[in-house]
Amino acid sequence: MKISILPIAATARYNRSMDELVDRLRAILGHGGVLDEAGDIAPYGTDWRGLFDHRPRAVVRPADTAGVAAAVRLCAASGVAIVPQGGNTSMVGGAVPGTAGSQIVLSLARMNAIRTIDRSSLTLEIEAGVTLRAAQLAAEAAGAFLPLSISAEGSAQIGGVISTNAGGNNTLRFGNTRDLVLGLEVVLPDGRIWNGLRRLRKDNTGYALRHLFAGAEGTLGIITAAVLRLAPMPRSRIACFCGLPGIEAVLDLYRRLRDEDEAALYAFEYISGTALDLALRHLPGARLPLERAAAHYALVELATTRRAGDLGATFETVLGEALDAGSLDDAAIANSEAQRLAFWSLREHMADAQKRAGASIKNDVSVPVAAVPALLARAADMLAQHYPGARMDAFGHIGDGNIHLNVIQPEGADPARFETQGGELMERVNVIIADLGGSFSAEHGIGLLKRHAVTVWRGEVERDVMLRIKAAIDPAAIMNPGKIFEP
Ligand code: MLT
Ligand code: ZN
Repeated sequence: MKISILPIAATARYNRSMDELVDRLRAILGHGGVLDEAGDIAPYGTDWRGLFDHRPRAVVRPADTAGVAAAVRLCAASGVAIVPQGGNTSMVGGAVPGTAGSQIVLSLARMNAIRTIDRSSLTLEIEAGVTLRAAQLAAEAAGAFLPLSISAEGSAQIGGVISTNAGGNNTLRFGNTRDLVLGLEVVLPDGRIWNGLRRLRKDNTGYALRHLFAGAEGTLGIITAAVLRLAPMPRSRIACFCGLPGIEAVLDLYRRLRDEDEAALYAFEYISGTALDLALRHLPGARLPLERAAAHYALVELATTRRAGDLGATFETVLGEALDAGSLDDAAIANSEAQRLAFWSLREHMADAQKRAGASIKNDVSVPVAAVPALLARAADMLAQHYPGARMDAFGHIGDGNIHLNVIQPEGADPARFETQGGELMERVNVIIADLGGSFSAEHGIGLLKRHAVTVWRGEVERDVMLRIKAAIDPAAIMNPGKIFEP
C-alpha cells in the first residue's frame, strides 16, 4: 500500500481551503443546502449494505438545476471531487465517496418535482430526486404506466436509477432503464447545463448523448432531470406464484408463457427454494403462497391493455400444459389485488432476507437464458468444493438471464471471516460466468466494489475508449472518482 503524508503546513492549508469552499457553497445554497456536522453527514457516507463508511467532507443539497450547476462550478474551481447521490440504494458502493473526508456528496433529494406528464406522447418529465415509486404513482394518476420496477423503488431516485441503468422486474418486456430515457438534463463537470430534455421517439442527429450518461454511474456529470417513456396503463394484471420441480422446468414454463403471449408477459421472476426458505425464516409475517414447498419458484405477471384480454384463461391453458408435462408442481393465481401485491412483497424483500441471514457475498450476474441451469449447477458444485456449508441464495430476473447469485455464510460461521473470502469467491463465480458468455454485473453496476474487474471484462480496447470518453468530458476527474475505474 502507498501512503502519502502531507507536511503539516500543507494539511492546514488544505483544510482551510476546504472550509472556505464549504462556506462559499453555503453562501449560494443557503443553510439548509449544506450539511457538514458529523451526525448529519454520516448516513451519506455509508451504503445500504454497510460495506463502506467513507464520510464526505460536506453534503450539498441544491433545490434546482441552477443550484447544482453553481455548486459544481465552485467544486471544479477548487478541484474538489463530487459524488452525486440519490436514494443511496446502490449494491456496489456507487453513491458513497470513494475515500473518506475529502469529497463533497451532492444529494439530489430536494429536486423532486414532477414537471410534466404528456398523455398523448406518453412521456413524463421529472427531476432526478423523485423516487421511482413517486414517479410510478404520478404516471398512474395520469392514467399511464411507467414500466420500471425494482425492489428498492420506494427509496431509489430517478437520477440514480438512470445513472446505473437499473434493470428490474419489467426488463423482459420493456427493456432496461436506458430504453425508457428519451431525454436528459445534465450538469457537466465544468458546471455547464446540457438541456437534452427531448421527448422524441425519433432523433437521428448524431451521438445519442443520453445513452452516455445512462449507466455512467455519475462519472460524467450529474443527471438533474429526465424525460421518460411511458406505456398505456394495463386494463388488467394478474400474478401467479408457481412451485416447480427443477430449474429446467422453470425455463420450460417461461418459454411456454412467452410463446403463448409475449406481449402480456410483464415479469417472470425466479426464486430458488433456498432463497424462499430464508425469506420465510427471516422476514416477519412472510408465508409461502402455496400449499407445499417446492425446489424452485417463479413469480409471473401477465398484463394487458386489451379489453377482451382474458389473462386468467392464458394462465390456465399454459399452467395446465406445464402440469401435464410434469414441469409444474403447484400454482396459486392471485385472486385479489392485495394478494398480487403480497406475492410481489415476498419477491421484493429477498435482499432484506439475505441481509438478515448473515454475512453474504453478492453476485449480480447474467448469462444467456438457456445457460441458467448450467450456471446454477456449476456454482453449486464450486461452492460445495470450496465453501462447504455456504448457502446459495439465488433469485432474480430469469427471463433476462439475470441471476442474483448470492452466497450466505455457513450457519454459525464467523461473518467477518466469511467476508474475507468475498474477492476469491466472486472470482470463482466469474470464471463460470466467463465460460458461459455472461456478465459479472448485470444490473447493479460497478461502483467501488467491482471496479478492479473492468479491465479484464471489457478488455483493453473498450477500457481505453471508456477512459478517453471520461477524460474528454471530465478532464479534471472530479465527477464520482474511483467509480467504474480504479484510480
Ligand atoms: C432485486 O432484484 O431484488 C435487487 O436487484 C436486489 C438484489 O439483488 O438483492
Ligand atoms: Zn434485481
